[in-house]
Amino acid sequence: MQNFAKYLQNFKKTYYLTKELFLKEKLASDTIGIVPTILPEDLGSTDFKQAYCLKYAYMGGSMANEISSAEMVISMGKAGILCSYGAGGVSPKIIEKAIIDIQKELPNGPYCFNLIHSPYETAAEMNAVKLYLKYNIDIIEASAYINLTPSLVYYRASGLSRDKNGNIIIKNKVIAKVSRTKIAQRFMEPPSKKFVKKLLEEGLITQEQADLVMQVPIADSITIEADSGGHTDNRPLISIYTVIKNLRDQLHEKYNLKDKIHIGVAGGISTPHSALAAFSMGADYVVTGSINQSCIEAGTSEHVKNLLQSVLVSDVAMAPAADMFEMGVRVQVLKKGSLYAVRAQKLYDLYIRYDSINDIPKNEKLKVEKQFFGKTMEAVWQETVAFFKERDPAKLEKVGDSEKQKMALIFRWYLGLSPLWARKADKEHKSDYQIWCGPSMGAFNDWVKNTDLALAENRKVVDIAERLMVGVAVLYRENILKCFFK
Ligand SMILES: Cc1cc2nc3c(=O)[nH]c(=O)nc-3n(C[C@H](O)[C@H](O)[C@H](O)COP(=O)(O)O)c2cc1C
Repeated sequence: MQNFAKYLQNFKKTYYLTKELFLKEKLASDTIGIVPTILPEDLGSTDFKQAYCLKYAYMGGSMANEISSAEMVISMGKAGILCSYGAGGVSPKIIEKAIIDIQKELPNGPYCFNLIHSPYETAAEMNAVKLYLKYNIDIIEASAYINLTPSLVYYRASGLSRDKNGNIIIKNKVIAKVSRTKIAQRFMEPPSKKFVKKLLEEGLITQEQADLVMQVPIADSITIEADSGGHTDNRPLISIYTVIKNLRDQLHEKYNLKDKIHIGVAGGISTPHSALAAFSMGADYVVTGSINQSCIEAGTSEHVKNLLQSVLVSDVAMAPAADMFEMGVRVQVLKKGSLYAVRAQKLYDLYIRYDSINDIPKNEKLKVEKQFFGKTMEAVWQETVAFFKERDPAKLEKVGDSEKQKMALIFRWYLGLSPLWARKADKEHKSDYQIWCGPSMGAFNDWVKNTDLALAENRKVVDIAERLMVGVAVLYRENILKCFFK
């Protein structure tokens, strides 16, 4: 009883303790009543931690354009935390360099790489898969999928074999991030026969791999993404968790699967309370994103990190996404300190209303050119043509004479460059920074206010991960104790 009082008294303090202090305080090692110790590494699924050789059931999610940088992946990997390199939007040469750097520092892992789907960039997806296979990258975080693709099935199938007892060995592991039940289902089943046939015909996989891939699900782990930074359907975690977990259980039975697919959660995880909620629901692991962007290791500008450190929960907004602009797909961004959300929405409205840039009323066109682009639409088009001539000439051929598609590419120039302006803190485009961020950033800032972590310059990804997990362990135990000591 006395211990419990001490426990609660120290609770607030413990909240911000580093793991060493947590252990020194002996809060972790004292058994109180019948409630044994709970350590940060006890949280989540043991199977998940073993499958990926991790210390914690905690993962750093991919952040495009190397915001989840090689440095971030290495720091987390050295602490036994899985982090996914943000390969989206990065050229194959730079991804290759990151692979070499990460493998040198983490010869035995853990690390993983993002395989991001874009319906307009199918060649880039296949190139990324080939690169990952060449370097034996055996864990990927697959995201933004609407349907499965041959590239993804190729990655999965080419790592399949049998051991001498006939058991299926899965070398290439897939952690799929989804927010919709239908897409979750595609990842939790074997792939469609048509993809497998195509891969076989192209000689990319063997007959044995073609047979084996029809006997396993595409993913080993499913991260359910709720209201997060970046691509999100803004779904409440407490609702979608139950539905996707139940679906996992049904499919496990239907396909008589050997291993249970892990279910993790992302979107809104940034404080001990939110992570506790996830683990209490039964999540096998938690994934963070927004909070890591404000850390020292993040591949973005000091300006962005300083903006992020003062964000409130309400300082975010949904805005059109660059990669699937024409389809009306949206991303969650920071609205404080940037006009991106408003301006990108304006461009989308113009795209919907008009068939050509020549149809846009003169005053509106001038406003966009002067305030958003800083140059004429014709100049942007010339830049776009030069860019695609070098990178993807087929895209220009596809546009052909379509004025509507030309307009989309001109507007996507703004949407595509705005994250890079933010990363470089480009002064010319100060009002247009596209910074992906979820409400979790504001919750984190509130949790750490009046502590050393209030300043972005003190934020390190591993320290934050450990303090968060320590906080969960403390809260978890407090909740159990509350049941015994009234
Ligand atoms: C700046 C930023 C960039 C992101 N880029 C990607 C990406 O390229 N691929 C991906 O799978 N997820 C991406 N995400 C999502 C994160 O990996 C993670 O799932 C999400 O941020 C978790 O929710 P939270 O923002 O509430 O922490 C990004 C998130 C942020 C904040």
